[in-house]
Amino acid sequence: MANKVSGVVRVALIGSGGISAAHGKGFLKHADKIKCVALCDVSQDNLKKRSEQLAPVGGGGKQFGDWKAMLKEMAGEIDAVDICLPHHLHAPAILDAAAAGKHILCEKPMCMSLAEADQIAGAVKKSGVTYMSAHNQLFMPVVQEAKRLIDGGEIGRVLWLRSQDCFRAGGEGGDPFKNSWRANLKTQGGGELIDTGYHPSYRLLYLAGAPAVSIHGQMGRFAQRIEGEDTASVQVRFANGVIGEILTSWAFPLPHGTHHIHVMGERGEIFGSADTLHHLPRGAKEPTRVEFPAVDTFEAEIAHFADCLREGKRPIHSVEEGRAVLELILKATSSAQGWEQTAAPR
Ligand SMILES: NC(=O)c1ccc[n+]([C@@H]2O[C@H](COP(=O)([O-])OP(=O)(O)OC[C@H]3O[C@@H](n4cnc5c(N)ncnc54)[C@H](O)[C@@H]3O)[C@@H](O)[C@H]2O)c1
Repeated sequence: MANKVSGVVRVALIGSGGISAAHGKGFLKHADKIKCVALCDVSQDNLKKRSEQLAPVGGGGKQFGDWKAMLKEMAGEIDAVDICLPHHLHAPAILDAAAAGKHILCEKPMCMSLAEADQIAGAVKKSGVTYMSAHNQLFMPVVQEAKRLIDGGEIGRVLWLRSQDCFRAGGEGGDPFKNSWRANLKTQGGGELIDTGYHPSYRLLYLAGAPAVSIHGQMGRFAQRIEGEDTASVQVRFANGVIGEILTSWAFPLPHGTHHIHVMGERGEIFGSADTLHHLPRGAKEPTRVEFPAVDTFEAEIAHFADCLREGKRPIHSVEEGRAVLELILKATSSAQGWEQTAAPR
């Protein structure tokens, strides 16, 4: 296991845009175990915003426009980096951080190709740093409780499961990806599936409990002005025989009456979203419904990262899981080839 960090983890935030605000909430909440000591972004506006958000905990520290310069100048002052960059910059930033001997938390996806994933695996192993995939939705109470019930045998052998995340990005008639790196295949690495669709994908892998052995996807573009798909449906067969499916979309909401996760076992089923879980034992007429205290999954992710570094523990998802979910997405995308021919213009 990688070298432990003693005391408060000193982290540098690379990418101070949209999602880094959610990570910032984690730094504010868990100031006893992690402190942002440097901010890096090419946008002065976003550096300012993040520094203002982090004012109660020191303002996020020194500011940089180039992460290479930051890693060099602050070599002795940071333990870890938190990468919140556009997708095409994940692999270069991870490789630079690993070479500098810094622990890494990186937003999804880990990178855009399996070749990059293998390079990252080699670099992380060589440097001995801890790598955590920022798979925040693993911290949803419904996912944690479902995992506990499945592993405890509550619904018997799992037969089938579904994982979903759907919403109309930008609202009806909106154009949220205009001038965004997300609209471009080269910077996004795909469409919706490698972005929002990444969450239901790692949830599915986590709950299935075995590697995927067969993956097929179908894709469509119904609402968004982007080069990739805005909707994906993926079918998966796992090595333990479990059948799984993913539905994910930026074109429409979660189909009425369905949930983030649904798991069918030999002795019952469990389903639910976010903080709510239903359990219907086989033969019972009505499911029980449990409401868990709400969890901010980003705050929980930041706390877990800090705890792993301070205690020398392996994060819940690391390089191997980051690679597995990317492989699922790339295989689904490749098997859906040709879908653009039927994609209607918006
Ligand atoms: N977990 C989630 O629910 C969730 C939600 C949204 C985004 N994300 C992920 O977070 C990451 C960032 O997404 P976002 O929505 O915050 O994007 P964003 O465009 O809002 O932020 C990206 C930031 O990176 C900066 N940047 C670009 N090039 C840079 C460079 N060379 N050096 C330094 N900074 C640079 C930009 O100026 C911007 O501030 C993506 O990987 C995305 O998939 C995750």
